[in-house]
Amino acid sequence: MIKVMPVVGVRPQIIKASPIISLLNHDPEIEMQLVHSGQHYDFDMSKTFFNEFDLPDPAFNLDVGSGSHAVQTALTMTRLETVLAKLKPDVVMVFGDGNTTLGATLAAVKSRIPVCHVESGARTYDMSEPEEVNRVLVDRCSQLLCAPTQNCLVNLRSEGLGEVAFGSSDTMLDVFLSHTHDVERATVNFPCLKDEDYVVLTFHRAENVDDPERLKKIVSAIINLPVKVIFPVHPRTKIALEGLGLWTPLLKVFNITPVRPLGYFEMLKLMKHSKAVLTDSGGMQKEAFFLRVPCVTLLYHTGSPETVWLGANRLVGAEPELIAEAVEKANVTTLRLKLKGSNPFGDGKASCRIVAEMKERFMLGKLQIKPKITFT
Ligand code: UD1
Repeated sequence: MIKVMPVVGVRPQIIKASPIISLLNHDPEIEMQLVHSGQHYDFDMSKTFFNEFDLPDPAFNLDVGSGSHAVQTALTMTRLETVLAKLKPDVVMVFGDGNTTLGATLAAVKSRIPVCHVESGARTYDMSEPEEVNRVLVDRCSQLLCAPTQNCLVNLRSEGLGEVAFGSSDTMLDVFLSHTHDVERATVNFPCLKDEDYVVLTFHRAENVDDPERLKKIVSAIINLPVKVIFPVHPRTKIALEGLGLWTPLLKVFNITPVRPLGYFEMLKLMKHSKAVLTDSGGMQKEAFFLRVPCVTLLYHTGSPETVWLGANRLVGAEPELIAEAVEKANVTTLRLKLKGSNPFGDGKASCRIVAEMKERFMLGKLQIKPKITFT
């Protein structure tokens, strides 16, 4: 038996980890010890995804909650350290680029427990983003790196990490392909929406939300868009909008419909029939690509440049003119013709590949953190 401890904490991690958690849960050679850091704790931000993907309850919740980056990372580290000492896993699995990912990696590697990083090798090369700091440090400290795309693998090789890296494909595509029927069946309760007569808007990244000037520019752009805007609001964004006195005025703008955060199935269904997706979420940039819906990204760079290279995603930052122009030009039919079968995110079998690779490397003794006994 191999004892494997997946650690999740925020909404997108639960989504991208879900097919791996299901596999581990049913593998007779594996004892799974699922941990939730508690970084996301609202029902809409966490439990709803456990329900949708039929995931087992975590064995431990670290109750980290909200706080500064240092607080979230440190609480994940210290509380996970105790759990590691108790459960003694053979491997810890981490996902994506959140503070949970970094805290769990540091706690594990310092307890000499090997770490497998899923969705490794994405880079924006902008260390002002908390996620980029997390990505770089987690990759450097992990013993198995699962690169979702060829470009991510190239990034890891260029950093000298090729020996512990392999091309896995993207688990987000596994999730997407295995739930097409659930998405089709999902009910979207927004009256009067017609295919492609609305856009879906989400944004929550610190660089957009915590900078009042940037936030005001984004709001000024969206209130002037000549299409309906369905806006599932992240709690962080709502707090920032309220702080600037923008929330109540936004509720009165006739073309904007702010709603609570949506579950995966409902969100994908809404995106599928939209004219475009406006977002700063890394996951939604990929999901828009899978759905063949134009993406307009409210950032100046992206961890998924493949979507931009293929013409499916336009980076507009917080620039009102660029946002307006990109939305106006977004055209689902043209994009579908242009993309045809292109897919840099693999074949939807990433999770099987990752679990198999982890087991093989573990059996071969390649997943170990041992002292170096050489005079070099
Ligand atoms: C985190 C990740 C980000 C990811 C995002 C997905 C880091 C550094 N960032 O950002 O990469 O894209 O999750 O959503 O880890 N809040 C609630 N209820 C919750 C969770 C949060 O109200 O269940 C509010 C709190 O006010 C909190 C704020 O949202 O302070 C931000 O949450 P936090 O977990 O710090 O970061 P995210 O912005 O969600």
